[in-house]
Amino acid sequence: MRKPLVAGNWKMNGSRDANRELLSALQSELDGLAGVELAVCPPAVYLPEVVEALADSPIEVGGQDCSDQASGAYTGEVAAAMLKDVGCRYVIVGHSERRDRQAEDSAWVAAKYQAALAAGVTPILCVGEQKEEREAGRTEAVVGEQLDAVLDAAGVESLDRAVIAYEPVWAIGTGLTATPEQAAEVHAFIRNRVAGRDPRVAADLRILYGGSMKADNAAGLLAHDDIDGGLVGGASLDAANFAGIARAA
Ligand code: G3P
Repeated sequence: MRKPLVAGNWKMNGSRDANRELLSALQSELDGLAGVELAVCPPAVYLPEVVEALADSPIEVGGQDCSDQASGAYTGEVAAAMLKDVGCRYVIVGHSERRDRQAEDSAWVAAKYQAALAAGVTPILCVGEQKEEREAGRTEAVVGEQLDAVLDAAGVESLDRAVIAYEPVWAIGTGLTATPEQAAEVHAFIRNRVAGRDPRVAADLRILYGGSMKADNAAGLLAHDDIDGGLVGGASLDAANFAGIARAA
């Protein structure tokens, strides 16, 4: 049985005061909620403070990216071991916003994924197609390439220590949520692609959905057996909305 995971990707949002308010409201709404794993992924500068604020809470903390390098002359980058050092359990790798703005290709994302595993941090590997790619019928080709690059580099068994998030780029921040059927179809494709290498790993793998998931649409998405939770952007900045998603998981 896969335990659902609902993770909030705060992206480049927040302040020390706003974070305190959000985390306090989240704990009021969520602590004691059983049967679902929760995580928040704040901007890197706030990680130690957020970890400290959640010290007595079951809510886990994650980073939004990590270097593919362990240490060295990489100005501005954050090593996975540093995330581990400050108390992170997760790190998002390959988010479409970084694939786009930082030109992160699948080989680089695979290296980040491996760096996270080497540091003992659980990578949340983001995959997903652009609107034009979906309209051209290339969703499986694109998602398959993104997935295979990681599996070829790290091996299918690495997924025992990882999570995948399917995030159709055209649904991120747009309010254009994928229909439950659209999402479930790609989740099933991902699980079958992994099963082609190892059925047991595929059965145990958690595949999250991300892309305008809100409290009012989460239940429909999470009702599908292949959708094991959410990677939530905008709604994670609102305690009631994020809690509504968590309760639906
Ligand atoms: O990583 C999750 C994020 O990309 C989804 O954003 O605002 O569409 O929930 P949003």
